[in-house]
Amino acid sequence: MRVKNRDYKSIWINEKGNLCVINQLRLPHVFETDVLKDFDAVCYAINNMVVRGAGLIGATAGYGMWVAASQAPKESIASFENYVHLQANRLLATRPTASNLAWAVARQLKELKQGSTIEEKIALLKDRAETIADEDSRSCQSIGWHGLELLKKIAATEPGKTINVLTHCNAGWLAFVDFGSALSPIFAAHDVGVPIHVWVDETRPRNQGASLTAWELAQHGVPHSLIADNVGGHLMQHGMVDMVITGADRITRNGDVANKIGTYLKALAAKDNDLPFYVAFPSSTIDFSLSDGLSQVPIEERSGDEVRRMSGKLADGSIATVQICPDETPARNWAFDVTPARLITALICERGVCPATEAGILGLFPEEA
Ligand code: MRU
Repeated sequence: MRVKNRDYKSIWINEKGNLCVINQLRLPHVFETDVLKDFDAVCYAINNMVVRGAGLIGATAGYGMWVAASQAPKESIASFENYVHLQANRLLATRPTASNLAWAVARQLKELKQGSTIEEKIALLKDRAETIADEDSRSCQSIGWHGLELLKKIAATEPGKTINVLTHCNAGWLAFVDFGSALSPIFAAHDVGVPIHVWVDETRPRNQGASLTAWELAQHGVPHSLIADNVGGHLMQHGMVDMVITGADRITRNGDVANKIGTYLKALAAKDNDLPFYVAFPSSTIDFSLSDGLSQVPIEERSGDEVRRMSGKLADGSIATVQICPDETPARNWAFDVTPARLITALICERGVCPATEAGILGLFPEEA
C-alpha cells in the first residue's frame, strides 16, 4: 500500500534487522513507524492495539515468536525451547478472539521442533514469520479479486450507477499485512473504474472506522463518508446501501462469524432489508475446531475506559483524550460479537466465494472434512 509515495506493509523487518510496524494509535493524524525492540514490546503492541486486526495480529505473533527465540537463553536446547514455549503462552493471552494469533503461534511451535541447533531454530522461526506475513498479503490480494467479481455483478445491473458499500471497523491493509479483507475488493473495484462509494461506520469505542478505514480510503482516493454507528439501518431502509462487507476475527466451521462489536446489528438490518451481507477473510481466520460461534468463540472484554473516553485532534492540532460520561459512571466494553451464519449471504476467502455453511466451507477446504 502506498503512503506518501512510498510502498508500505503494516509490518516488516528493516535493514538493521529490527521488527517495524505502523503505530495505529497515532493514525489518522500522525503517520509514524515504531520499532518493536523486544518481546515485551511485541506483547504490548498487540495488547494495546498499536497493531490490530486479525491478520496483522497473526503476523505480529509470528514475528513475535522469532523475537522471543532471539532473546531466549542459549545454554541448552531444552532451556531455549522452554523459554519460547512460555513466551508463546504470553502471546496467546494478549488478545483472545482472533483465530489468526493462535494459528500463527501454533505454526511457529511446530517450526521450533525443526533444526538441530539453536541458531538454526531461530533462523527457521524468522523464515516462517516472513512466510506467514507473505501468505497473509497474497491471500488478501486474492480476496480482492474474488470480491471484485461480486461488485462487478452489482455494477452490471445498473451501468454507471455508483455502488454504495457499507463496512464496519477496519478490515483494510492496516488490519493485515497488505491489501486487507473487506476493503481489498473495494480497492480493486476502484482501481478498475467501477464507481464505488463506501459508508464507513465510525466503530465505537475505538473508532477504527473513523481513524483507520477512512484514512486508508482517503489515501487510495476511494469516495467515502463517515457515519455514526447507528446510521446503517436507516440508509438501508432508504435504498442507500447496495452491499455490506465486513472482515472477521474468527469463523467457525459452520460459518458463524465473530467480528467487531456491532457487526451483528448490521447483519440483522441487512437481512431485514434484503441486502447482501458478505464477510471476507483469509483462511487463517477459520477455526475448524469450533462449530457454534455463539457458545464457543471467546469474546474479548476490554477496559471500560475505552467507552468512557475518546481521543481526537483539538483545534490547535494537538491530540487529546476526553471523558464523555459522568465521573461515577462505569462502562462495559465487549470488543466483538457473533453474527450467525444464517444472516450471511456468502463468505469470501482466498480460495473463492462460498455459502456460510459447513458444506460451503468444506467445499473450498476439502482437506478439513
Ligand atoms: O479490535 P480490532 O481492531 O483488532 O478488531 C478488528 C476487527 O474487528 C476487524 O473487523 C477484524 O479483525 C476483521 S479484519 C482483520
